[in-house]
Amino acid sequence: MKRTWLLGTGSYAPSYTLTNEDLEEMVDTSDEWISTRTGIKRRHISKGESCSDLALEASQKALDQAGIEPGEIDVIIVATLTPDTIFPATACWIQKKLEIQDCLSFDISAACSGFLYGLFLADNFLKQGEFHTALVVGSEVLSNFVNWEDRNTCVLFGDGAGAAILRSHHGSEGGNILSKEIGTDVAGIDLLKIPGGGSRMPFSQEVLDKKLHTIHMKGNEVFKNATRTMVLAIENALKKACLSVEDIQWYIPHQANLRIINYVGKKLGIPQKKVIINLQEYGNTSAASIPIALDESLRENTIRKGDRVCLFSFGAGFTYGSIILEV
Ligand code: ACO
Repeated sequence: MKRTWLLGTGSYAPSYTLTNEDLEEMVDTSDEWISTRTGIKRRHISKGESCSDLALEASQKALDQAGIEPGEIDVIIVATLTPDTIFPATACWIQKKLEIQDCLSFDISAACSGFLYGLFLADNFLKQGEFHTALVVGSEVLSNFVNWEDRNTCVLFGDGAGAAILRSHHGSEGGNILSKEIGTDVAGIDLLKIPGGGSRMPFSQEVLDKKLHTIHMKGNEVFKNATRTMVLAIENALKKACLSVEDIQWYIPHQANLRIINYVGKKLGIPQKKVIINLQEYGNTSAASIPIALDESLRENTIRKGDRVCLFSFGAGFTYGSIILEV
């Protein structure tokens, strides 16, 4: 039987940080509001580094940990909603920076679920035998797409990148992706978006003046959808793997809001100590949030070889997913 093994992970965040106290100076908000409503304390902000710059740092760490050369990568999948350029894909820029002669490189636009979409595709590619080794990256420079005068959104987001190297292998040794539940429910497509700057509303002075090139979100509506959808996604992923909540050692949610995470955990009876949370440090880094948390907990030895980990996410679209892997 073919298995998809997580060979290595890496993550990176810009060194500059913006605290809740810093935001108190910028908009009408407070550390108390941000902490109790979201759990976020600070976020890392890029000072000129692009999406592929962050992704490259994370990818190099993942390659080092995997002990492989860039030339061994057959496919690069980058999940991002803040690409370097509209085209070429950020995956192509990374391929160039890694000096890989030839491989399949493309981006995914699935907002906060992008990394799970990437894992989904990589697992299918590898298990079908088309490719041997995949680099999946979630990387975001959301700070360039935030309206820093809008307290409803600017306190939530941060920049960062996380990467994973996956390799197909035969036999019973090593880890595997055990089940995948992934999808999109477009019922709330207008509740979370960047309305301007695309082909529907091209860049213009009006787009800039009205800041339509920045993130617009009906937070409380998104909140309700996120909780309901993620509970269902986890239940379905567990069912597909013939596992129960107790069979999973670690849960890694998309790091958007502590209250959403706690709600999902309570609904499914997941003990809090099994849920990995780092949003206090990074805020919501969209597609990067899950791979950053995964990398940190593997490097800290919180997650150990043989553990089963359930990843779950929710994002604009609404995209959602839950993937269970054995590391
Ligand atoms: N500081 C102080 N007050 C604020 C702030 C702030 N930063 N932001 C909003 N408020 C106020 C509002 O104006 C409102 O005031 P009012 O009652 O006088 O009108 C009040 O706080 C409550 O606002 P709500 O939006 O109802 O607050 P809520 O408890 O829903 O929290 C939040 C807002 C944190 C955005 C939450 O709704 C949330 O996390 N939503 C989901 C986000 C998410 O999961 N997104 C998906 C992934 S992101 C992606 O795909 C890119």
